[in-house]
Amino acid sequence: MTKHLAPSILSADFTRLGEGFSDIAQGGATYVHLDVMDGHFVPNISFGIPVVESLRKFADQNGINMVFDAHLMIANPKNYITPFAKVGADIITFHYEACQNADEAAQIIQMIRGEGKKAGIAINPDTPVEAVKNLLPGVDMALIMSVVPGFGGQGFIQHTLEKARQIRSWFPNLDIQMDGGVNLSNIQEVAENGVNIIVVGSAIFNHKDVAAKTREFVDLIM
Ligand code: DX5
Ligand code: ZN
Repeated sequence: MTKHLAPSILSADFTRLGEGFSDIAQGGATYVHLDVMDGHFVPNISFGIPVVESLRKFADQNGINMVFDAHLMIANPKNYITPFAKVGADIITFHYEACQNADEAAQIIQMIRGEGKKAGIAINPDTPVEAVKNLLPGVDMALIMSVVPGFGGQGFIQHTLEKARQIRSWFPNLDIQMDGGVNLSNIQEVAENGVNIIVVGSAIFNHKDVAAKTREFVDLIM
């Protein structure tokens, strides 16, 4: 599986978002992780459609080619699939825990695919992988939360590595993303446990040289 670094802009300086976006591209990141939070599914509000639209325009105007990886930490995700698809998300990931049941999750996956986008399903640290096993054949990516969703800068929850190993054993060719608390000291362990798309937020954007720090992470996983 090809490995990808997916810097999360949640920890970026929002007064200079274009600069931060350019920096992670310059540092070799191939994904940009867009943490959308609604203040209902998680106790935090981050950003939404207008920011993704602006970043997509900025990318197109500046010849920046990164995968727009939208992580929807929102209630009622089915109401927002089309809007995020329209403003340029390439992957749309919703939370299993935001669905009433597996049927609704399957319906959302179909909606995302119907928009011509890649579908991701996310599970929180305390959600067992068995809960989504039957849904995984229909998605392009499984997102395993290694922190409780809602905030950047939290500590990595070690037991989530076992979930990555389990999903990798079931689905050798599925993109598996790990999200939360990843830093220079644990990213190689994450990559060695079946994960091929790795989100890093604060460990990149809290650094004064974002491009150089991005490059450091990319070099560690390639
Ligand atoms: C948390 C988000 C994560 C987080 C990653 O709810 O889904 O993407 O922002 O940030 P760090 O790497 O700082 O944990
Ligand atoms: Zn995220």
